[in-house]
Amino acid sequence: GASVQVNVGDLAPGEMRTVEWRGQPVWLLRRTPEMLASLSNTADLADPNSSTPQQPEYAKNIHRSIKPDLLVTVGICTHLGCSPVTLPEGTANTSVPADWKGGFFCPCHGSTFDLAGRVFKNKPAPTNLVVPPHSYLDDTTLLIG
Ligand code: FES
Repeated sequence: GASVQVNVGDLAPGEMRTVEWRGQPVWLLRRTPEMLASLSNTADLADPNSSTPQQPEYAKNIHRSIKPDLLVTVGICTHLGCSPVTLPEGTANTSVPADWKGGFFCPCHGSTFDLAGRVFKNKPAPTNLVVPPHSYLDDTTLLIG
């Protein structure tokens, strides 16, 4: 079918894995407590409250996910569809905000996203990254789609 089942039980804190769903890369990131704490830093975000329909209702929260620690997002830039890369906190890059706490960076035109896939202001990407429809079949089994 069009759904993908993934065991996320062995995803360690700070680890990210990419799975394919409907021909698109879906990122699974197990956020550490520090990464989650960085999500309260919303001053420079274009849409901190996820007001645009880029996620299902159940992911319309500060961490944009069902389980706070597990980010599930489509790894495609919402500007023109390039593939963003991860940039850890402290990365020296002129495109990232001065108080960069880590997140995703699109090398095509410099859009930056936080660790919930929320886009920073004054960047070409108009919206946050897409959170695909997903659910949990049990504690460690994620169903995408
Ligand atoms: Fe990502 Fe343009 S495609 S910033």
